[in-house]
Amino acid sequence: ESSTEVDVSAIEPGQAIKAIFRKQPLFVKRLTDAEIEAANAVDVGSLRDAESLNDRTLEGNRDILVTMGVCTHLGCVPLGAAEGEVKGEYGGYFCPCHGSHYDTAGRIRKGPAPTNLVVPEYAFTSETVIQVG
Ligand code: FES
Repeated sequence: ESSTEVDVSAIEPGQAIKAIFRKQPLFVKRLTDAEIEAANAVDVGSLRDAESLNDRTLEGNRDILVTMGVCTHLGCVPLGAAEGEVKGEYGGYFCPCHGSHYDTAGRIRKGPAPTNLVVPEYAFTSETVIQVG
């Protein structure tokens, strides 16, 4: 199948779920207010891959962060999407393979990964369901 549907209604703030999109891991996370504030407090110009949270989320749903669960270094699956997993020094995702730290917007902040976690094309098909791809 070429697209994936995810019901985001059951995702609590601070939680993420893992899905599969085109045979690769997909992370869908609902950010807390603090996570949104942390993302927006960063000077975008200082980032390795300069994107704001607004660039990476949809208007009206800034708390829903949809990214591929694939480290942009060499393709490991980062930690942080499942309960109890470490989130790294910037509170988002952490790739244990070579130590890439992603922030609450899924942006690379430290370590070898060259770019942010990829945000796939997606849209809301209802108030609670997104279609990815
Ligand atoms: Fe993630 Fe190398 S594959 S840091």
